[in-house]
Amino acid sequence: MDKIVIEGGTPLSGQISISGAKNSALKLMVACLLSDEPLELTNMPNLRDTRFLGHLLENFGVEVTDGVGRLTLHAKTLSSTTAPYDLVRKMRASFNVLGPVLARAHKAKVSLPGGCAIGARPVDLHLNALKAMGANIELSEGYVIASAKGGLKGADITFPFISVGATEHAMLAAVLAKGETTLNNAAREPEIVDLANCLQAMGAKINGAGRSEITIEGVEKLGGAKFAVVPDRIEAGTYALAAATVGGAVRLVNVRSDHLGSLWPLIAQAGAKVTMDEDSVLVERHGTPIRPVDVETQAYPGFPTDLQAQFMAMMCLADGVSIIRENIFENRFMHCPELSRMGANITVSGREAIIRGVPKLKGAQVMATDLRASASLIAAGLAAEGTTEVGRVYHLDRGFEQIEVKLGNCGARIKRVKE
Ligand code: EPZ
Repeated sequence: MDKIVIEGGTPLSGQISISGAKNSALKLMVACLLSDEPLELTNMPNLRDTRFLGHLLENFGVEVTDGVGRLTLHAKTLSSTTAPYDLVRKMRASFNVLGPVLARAHKAKVSLPGGCAIGARPVDLHLNALKAMGANIELSEGYVIASAKGGLKGADITFPFISVGATEHAMLAAVLAKGETTLNNAAREPEIVDLANCLQAMGAKINGAGRSEITIEGVEKLGGAKFAVVPDRIEAGTYALAAATVGGAVRLVNVRSDHLGSLWPLIAQAGAKVTMDEDSVLVERHGTPIRPVDVETQAYPGFPTDLQAQFMAMMCLADGVSIIRENIFENRFMHCPELSRMGANITVSGREAIIRGVPKLKGAQVMATDLRASASLIAAGLAAEGTTEVGRVYHLDRGFEQIEVKLGNCGARIKRVKE
């Protein structure tokens, strides 16, 4: 298994181009199931998760043509309506095929995804939305067996709390339902807007994406489209935080700075300088101490849970005590014991972590526990004295395109070692 080896202590200096967003690309790929015409996605990140979803889609008879930064998906006919356990368990986002297959074929059988490292992550909101649209849903032997005789019907759906996945899933199903669907208390993440824009390019009628109330007027058929994936705000935030943590100056390009409105003031409060121009963001910290900043995760436009671990890595080196509260997932502090192995002083109590900043971190052997946790260990390793080895890097490969190359181009002493 590969590991990442880092020699810490060198400031970062250079430019990083941000890739297309994993969490948008995965839902856009699923959208191909709604049409018998090709969907061409550009600005596509090349990630383990996107490649894996490509295989899952092939299982449904989708013709997948891969190019550099480009992916064409053609679901001319659906040769299967089943997503087996082995394919869904490896990646939760696979579950989102249920709605589109059901909408197009009026039946689908998809394995329940099960829990994952960051918590139980149920799918009740997804299933309730489909039921509201007239789907008949049975759970049997770990599978969701869904049918909708005559097709799905528009419905008025109110989510009891905000869910990105359930909002996207309901949208993916509603575009081919008969009549109007209203989604209340919908998620407002940029990935929702990206999916809505892509579906609209395919001929869907969607209003209000990016707001709490989304209305969708079902259409009979969707066509093909060519669509560019939005830049990854989490990847951008990760490199911005790495620059602020390690020190130096990193310019981010191909970035949507407006998608990180909650991050910039916090990075500035922590002592880094953020300069934005039309299409890039420069993050610098030259010797000024890192100041402690309290943060809590929230649905968009609040501070993203997917940047919580990376922010914590920075707070480990702050000049005082900070509190980080995780409101979205119940078990997203697995990076804390790993950061502690490097000398961090962190106490976790329920949903809160108290971080008492230390003057230095020391390199150590650590283990990636999930995708974003891995990125926090890399930033900590780059800031630490000595050598850090990050194991289980397959987590990292799920969602960061060429992280060691991008950081290496900024002077980081980082390499991948095959074992
Ligand atoms: C998406 O997960 C992202 N994944 C996550 O990114 C991200 O952390 C999360 O949104 C929040 O922004 C993808 O887009 C593939 P939710 P999702 O439904 O859709 C609970 C990463 O590292 N819930 O908004 O699964 C759930 O357990 C990943 O890239 C239910 O109880 O997140 C969680 O506590 C990790 N029932 C909360 O809602 C449901 O039916 C919010 O989850 C659905 C969700």
